[in-house]
Amino acid sequence: MSITVPPIKCQGIKTKLLPAIRPIVPEHIEGRWIEPFCGSGVVAFNLLPERAILADTNRHIIALYQAIQAGRITPGSVQEFLRAEGAALKEKGEAHYYAVRERFNAQKDSLDFLFLNRSCFNGVMRFNRKGGFNTPFCRKPERFQPAYVTKIVNQVRSVAQIVSRYDWVFRVSDFRETLAEAKTGDFVYADPPYAGRHTDYFNGWTSEDEEVFIRQLKGLPCTFLLSTWQENTFRRNPAIDSYLCEPGLVRHTVEHFYHVGSQEELRHAMTEALITNSDRVSSLQPPLRPNQFALEMV
Ligand SMILES: C[S@@+](CC[C@H](N)C(=O)[O-])C[C@H]1O[C@@H](n2cnc3c(N)ncnc32)[C@H](O)[C@@H]1O
Repeated sequence: MSITVPPIKCQGIKTKLLPAIRPIVPEHIEGRWIEPFCGSGVVAFNLLPERAILADTNRHIIALYQAIQAGRITPGSVQEFLRAEGAALKEKGEAHYYAVRERFNAQKDSLDFLFLNRSCFNGVMRFNRKGGFNTPFCRKPERFQPAYVTKIVNQVRSVAQIVSRYDWVFRVSDFRETLAEAKTGDFVYADPPYAGRHTDYFNGWTSEDEEVFIRQLKGLPCTFLLSTWQENTFRRNPAIDSYLCEPGLVRHTVEHFYHVGSQEELRHAMTEALITNSDRVSSLQPPLRPNQFALEMV
């Protein structure tokens, strides 16, 4: 399966889960694809719904995709920018990374955001309490080699082609507002932050958020698919056995290994749960990879 890789990397990116997500999503969605926590957008970029609302509270991700959609940022402008900034990084070293970080925190330019996202330490996008990007440098002054720039430019090109073809809206909004819009016939794919993991300014997730979210999700007038964590070596998500275990919900589990993360704990294998209220799953083929992909009726 060929995968469209987005130009932005973010914690909890679902690239590796696409083979498990794809068979659960209906082939035809009558209404809109609604994604209240779109992050990098990798799921929509690969499932390609005709109409979509792609929302997130991280305004920098949304601004980048809006700029690509509007043609303000193009593969050409990205290439020119990364070549110039990459050359400055090579010449000045980490001082240049921190200068771009300061400039981004003052001006919030989308190209600076892309540069930081692709040269920060461990690929972890982290924001402080005031919303300032504060991830340190990856310490590779030669980061933006021609092949790396070309790779990012091609990722921007793929996104530009996709967003010009479909009726998609990118917007900054809280999940409460996005989910409130869902109607019969829409399909919601929800991948909220994991409580207690990857917490920062954009990914803070309180027990109140979780409670409101689960209530809204279960009250949706349409089909949904929820991505959440089930367990790792250290703990199990308590929501799985409390709110997310009831007749009418089907849970798939997938072993997943995160490569983006700063702490040792975040780099261990994680069992992810894909929970849906779709009756389509009853007609699904048996799991594709039995060792990695289990289906459980709850
Ligand atoms: C697990 S990530 C989504 C990853 C995405 N599915 C991907 O594959 O790239 C969770 C996202 O939720 C966003 N977020 C956090 N709190 C939010 C809120 N209250 N409303 C909407 N989005 C929120 C974060 O900015 C982050 O991008």
